Amino acid sequence: MKPLSVEDPEIASAIQSELERQRNNIILIASENFASRAVMEAQGCVMTNKYAEGYPGKRYYRGTACVDLAENLARERCKKLFAGAEHVNVQPVSGTQANMAAYFAVLKVGDTIMGMNLAHGGHLSHGSPVNFSGRMYKIVPYSVSPETEMLDYSEMAAIARKNRPQLIVVGASSYPRTIDFKVVREIADEVGAKVMADIAHIAGLCAVGAHPSPVPYADIVTTTTHKTLRGPRGALIICKEELASAIDRSVFPGTQGGPFMHAIAAKAVAFKEALTPEFKEYQFQVVRNARVLAERLLENKFDLVSGGTDNHLMLVKLIKEGITGKIADETLERAGITLNKNMIPFDPATPFVTSGIRIGTPAATSRGMKEKEMVTIADLITMVIRDIKNEETIADVRRQVLELCQKFPLYPDLP
Ligand SMILES: Cc1ncc(COP(=O)(O)O)c(C=O)c1O
Repeated sequence: MKPLSVEDPEIASAIQSELERQRNNIILIASENFASRAVMEAQGCVMTNKYAEGYPGKRYYRGTACVDLAENLARERCKKLFAGAEHVNVQPVSGTQANMAAYFAVLKVGDTIMGMNLAHGGHLSHGSPVNFSGRMYKIVPYSVSPETEMLDYSEMAAIARKNRPQLIVVGASSYPRTIDFKVVREIADEVGAKVMADIAHIAGLCAVGAHPSPVPYADIVTTTTHKTLRGPRGALIICKEELASAIDRSVFPGTQGGPFMHAIAAKAVAFKEALTPEFKEYQFQVVRNARVLAERLLENKFDLVSGGTDNHLMLVKLIKEGITGKIADETLERAGITLNKNMIPFDPATPFVTSGIRIGTPAATSRGMKEKEMVTIADLITMVIRDIKNEETIADVRRQVLELCQKFPLYPDLP
């Protein structure tokens, strides 16, 4: 058997270039992170060859003893990580699919979901008309308050009373503040709705107590495993015992066939890592870094959605600067700072252009960067945005980014 570099030099070279890109840029995309070498090793293992439809002990294929071991370890560790989890399913291949499986488990087509407005921080799978969720269910969106740009729980309660949804989805892709899951539970109880918390972004924080956990309050919790949780690309579902078999059936055979056993092995590794004191410290550092970065941007006279952050991300409003999110993220990328344009609440621009950028600290923190580097990064972002047409400034920031990246080597063991 030939190594990849011999078998397929074009793909080998694309992978090597991607490694260099990750090494030589400051990654501030709030949904990205750097999985450990052990996680990546498990993900690239022979378990990719194995079909294992079903669940440990009840498979539709033979030869599953080793993958059963991996899936059982993943389930046990996941339960330990999310205190109070009654049942877990570690098979979903993506966050969107986990949400689909969750909806299929508790809803009929045409039922009503109350989900966070996409433009205010929600995810496509919480009811966007271009996603299956918006096509199969009646969607009632809730928004942030125009004054505080934070969730307005009394408004949420009023919308719930008026529309009596079967499911309230809480969780977001770009919401910088703490979510009060207990209040959402109370609102749901008043109208007889179930609660699904999608903690794709904040799962790592919730696991260690850097953000309150939804597990005691939500009927179902879904999350991706590759964001703050720093595992392989994939997802999982946690639910109350009474929903266990509905959720399991909804994942397989409801929404997928053979599970990705290599990814499940890698999830098990990530959960083991997440149970260490180092991971706990890492998550609190992510939050401290975000706070320092936000404070420095405020000192540099930027406007932030809701005026700051409680978690791993922030949204910068560029209305005052007269710059679109699209121009900002393109120019910052040329300067070596990778982040993404993002809608801000009540954004006058289209989703492809936007009036904001989203900044997250999980990936930079995984490289070992701390408060001091966050101040530098905020100043580098400021230099580019305040002088957006000046190629010399962009080149100067590019040089400074490279110097900073070299001080925090990424994957030093890889060639
Ligand atoms: C809140 C939330 N839910 C679900 C997802 C979907 O995850 P995936 O991209 O794995 O489908 C995301 C992804 O960004 C997300 O932010």
